[in-house]
Amino acid sequence: MIDQTELAALRQDYSQHELSKSSVAPDPFDQFSRWFDEAITAQIVEPNAMHLGTSTLEGLPSGRTVLLKGFDKTGFKFFTNYDSAKARDLAANPNCYLHFLWKDLERQIFIRGTAVKTSDDESDEYFAARPYKSQIGAWASEQSSVIESRGIIEKKFEELTAKYPESNVPRPPFWGGFRVAPNQFEFWQGRRSRLHDRILYTRSDDSWKIARLSP
Ligand SMILES: Cc1cc2nc3c(=O)[nH]c(=O)nc-3n(C[C@H](O)[C@H](O)[C@H](O)COP(=O)(O)O)c2cc1C
Repeated sequence: MIDQTELAALRQDYSQHELSKSSVAPDPFDQFSRWFDEAITAQIVEPNAMHLGTSTLEGLPSGRTVLLKGFDKTGFKFFTNYDSAKARDLAANPNCYLHFLWKDLERQIFIRGTAVKTSDDESDEYFAARPYKSQIGAWASEQSSVIESRGIIEKKFEELTAKYPESNVPRPPFWGGFRVAPNQFEFWQGRRSRLHDRILYTRSDDSWKIARLSP
């Protein structure tokens, strides 16, 4: 087991890049796009992996990683099971956040917004593009429910493979997308001596206000 003093001494100084109010794009979606392209160029593993934070109406928080599957100025899209814990949270309280950590670039992005389900057409289109086994997997999993053993879901997978032998698997009615429409973005760039750059965009009517936050 790691010594506690050693653990407390684990730290990294950041020095690769800088960020300022004058260097960022006026529109946060363009800034996101710029950083996303740089994450691809830097060969970050799964740069589209993002942490999704939700909470119940009573304020009980939950979090998990999901994959970003598309974005434009209307929002950020991911797909999941509509009976899952996250979907139940979002049905009760659409306020949520997305968080990207791109450690190799010393960057994080925090996005706060509200989630709505994508249209059936959008969900159908993405489901049809998934690999066959992922399509069967979506049918097989009652996501977030307790199961007695792994064997149960493996058996279900086999049965569903027999039921849908072709690659033409219909989208389960309980599976689809959410789009998170942001009202706030924060772009964080690590800097030396913990004097990091933090640029905050806040939506104000149809435009975005840009401010610098203290690290
Ligand atoms: C890298 C990574 C990507 C994931 N992508 C998704 C995804 O796109 N959709 C999804 O429903 N679950 C995804 N998961 C699984 C979720 O993190 C989570 O375990 C699952 O959705 C159940 O969450 P819930 O019980 O909070 O609803 C991913 C997990 C990891 C580690």
